[in-house]
Amino acid sequence: MLFEPYKLKKLNLRNRIVMAPMTRNQSPEGVPTDQVAKYYQRRAQGEVGLIITEGIEVSHKASSAYPNVPRLDSVKARDGWKKVVQGIKEDNGSVIAQLWHCGGFRKLGMGPDPEVPGHTASGLVKPGKKVAHEMTLRDIEETIEAYASDAEFCENIGFDGVEIHGAHGYLIDNFFWEGTNVREDEYGGTIEKRSQFVTDIVKAVRSRVSDDFIVGLRFSQWKQHDFNAKLADTAAELEEVIMPPVNAGLDYLHSSMRRFWESEFPNSDENLAFWTKKISNIPTIAVGSVGLDTDFIDMTASANPTSIDRAIEDISQNKYELIAVGRALIADPNWVVKMKEGRLKDLVPYTKEALMTLY
Ligand SMILES: Cc1cc2nc3c(=O)[nH]c(=O)nc-3n(C[C@H](O)[C@H](O)[C@H](O)COP(=O)(O)O)c2cc1C
Repeated sequence: MLFEPYKLKKLNLRNRIVMAPMTRNQSPEGVPTDQVAKYYQRRAQGEVGLIITEGIEVSHKASSAYPNVPRLDSVKARDGWKKVVQGIKEDNGSVIAQLWHCGGFRKLGMGPDPEVPGHTASGLVKPGKKVAHEMTLRDIEETIEAYASDAEFCENIGFDGVEIHGAHGYLIDNFFWEGTNVREDEYGGTIEKRSQFVTDIVKAVRSRVSDDFIVGLRFSQWKQHDFNAKLADTAAELEEVIMPPVNAGLDYLHSSMRRFWESEFPNSDENLAFWTKKISNIPTIAVGSVGLDTDFIDMTASANPTSIDRAIEDISQNKYELIAVGRALIADPNWVVKMKEGRLKDLVPYTKEALMTLY
């Protein structure tokens, strides 16, 4: 089933393999270059079912924390994305744009405006460490509007949808997590209130795009700065986290794990994607070290190809619908074709050199 077509809303995917969103820092001044377009087109030629772009910084003054990350807030950047989308479509691919706000990872001195500090739910960048700006209701409103207008740009550019990056400790996850959200207004307090920020984003995005345009959400338990953190200790808590944004109109959820074979809650062998799908009943993507023998801890560590039997089995048992592949697709644009043909020994291993280049 993994290599067979799958219908995501009205989008006909040629298989159930998704390219995971991966920042490449190769878009000077926020503009994706022709090399970026070729890099994505190569994965479409390599028969990836659905490409999710690297995180694109939303058009908000505090969204940026890393150099040469693409944006949408200039004509040049949007024209650059048009070329990316055209290239992917030429080779019968599908593509979703990931929208990203770095939240507390931003520090004073960073571009584009060095005077703008990191923005977070309560000024906290980790539990007990208050060095960022605590977002006012006005800041929240402006940020929601940035997601909505960027989603509209994405639809006009020709993307098939957007994925809201709510994972890994960045802004939305900073709101989700009780360790960093101690607000006492409608955006903090209970789990449900901590989900209100992303729920409002989903509602705003949905109101500005057509019904067929796909709106997804990526979330994780783990944070960049705390691999053991959890938003939910039980399936019941997970339901409280994910259902408000699902009910606001999400078309899929993307459960970001570091090792997709690990069980999520006590007394069950099932992973986060399984529980996500069981609770939400909407299409779910699983990700985390699929096809590689080294876990996603240090992105510069080398990793060798391994069998994907477990992923194939999970998909055939309908535990979740789609599998995302990250580092293995940086290493080898033809990963899907080679895997489909059982040519494991022809796969290119992942190395930090592959990370530095854009092939
Ligand atoms: C170089 C690199 C950049 C990444 N950038 C992003 C990103 O922009 N957005 C995101 O949600 N995850 C990002 N991730 C995480 C990946 O999407 C994926 O979840 C992770 O690599 C685990 O999958 P893998 O084991 O198949 O590589 C990045 C990972 C890598 C290796």
